[in-house]
Amino acid sequence: MKSKASAPGKVILFGEHFVVYGVKAILCAINKRVTVTAEKIEGEKISIKSNIGNLVLEPNKPVSEINSPLKPFYYLANKMLQSQNQTTGIEIIVESDIPIGVGLGSSSACCVAGAAAISRLFVETPKEEILKLAIAAEKTIFQNTSGADCTVCTYGGIMEYDKKNGFTKIKSEPDFHLVIANSNIKHSTESVVAGVKQFKEENEVEFSNLCNDESKLVEDVLKLLNNNSIKELGQKIIQNQVYLETIGVSNEKLRNMIQVGQKSSFGAKITGAGGGGCIFSLTDESNLEHSINQFKDKNYECFSVKIDFKGLDTF
Ligand code: PMV
Repeated sequence: MKSKASAPGKVILFGEHFVVYGVKAILCAINKRVTVTAEKIEGEKISIKSNIGNLVLEPNKPVSEINSPLKPFYYLANKMLQSQNQTTGIEIIVESDIPIGVGLGSSSACCVAGAAAISRLFVETPKEEILKLAIAAEKTIFQNTSGADCTVCTYGGIMEYDKKNGFTKIKSEPDFHLVIANSNIKHSTESVVAGVKQFKEENEVEFSNLCNDESKLVEDVLKLLNNNSIKELGQKIIQNQVYLETIGVSNEKLRNMIQVGQKSSFGAKITGAGGGGCIFSLTDESNLEHSINQFKDKNYECFSVKIDFKGLDTF
């Protein structure tokens, strides 16, 4: 028997970095997906095949001793074998159309689709349980994850998140397109977050004012999302980028890309940690093609996405 699941990637629309200091952020799932197929096989082994490499190990190894980006899958398979008292082997095949390591939620989508496909080989597992398993699996590679990414990958749609109150799904279903441009500079979220901490320590008053400004901006955005006011939303994106520039998470390549985005769409900003990774520009049918062509003309890798409202899907 095969068990198959897929989960979407994500972008942070507003509030990255400030969310670390208690401000609300807004995230959405995107229609780029990871699909995981799990199957019971002969022999006591856990075999993982993906386009970034393969991993074959016997069960019951301490996860801390495994040095592979595929270790969340091993963790999930091993956990299920243990909890179900099974001695079978498991083969896991991972297929992804989410670029890796550039802030688009590739690892969270892997953990969510992996948790669903692997657990459902043994038992019917509700979404809430799959999310818990996925967050535990993601912690094997990113100890400090807030769980926000796995949550939006599980439930899809748009979500507001803050550290104190957790996640709230936003009901509106706007029809916009995002053009995502990839700087192809891999970033370390941890080191960019550390840089912002240093900025905060050296500029306490300015940083506190920026947090207040960002909070106000996010509240405005929540109202605009209900009204589908795309042009005003674009202005908020441009304003959010000003705050991100101020705290030092941008660089020349990202600024050049954002300039292309801002000229050709309603607004453009970094998504995620910055320092590399991706930016997005906000478009609708009227300027989607134009924005894509402008990025392509300047030789920037880009693609368009829409919001994914499905979240985790199982087959
Ligand atoms: O680029 P990503 O998806 O790793 O985004 C990081 C978001 C930050 O706000 C910068 C950090 C965090 O933990 O929220």
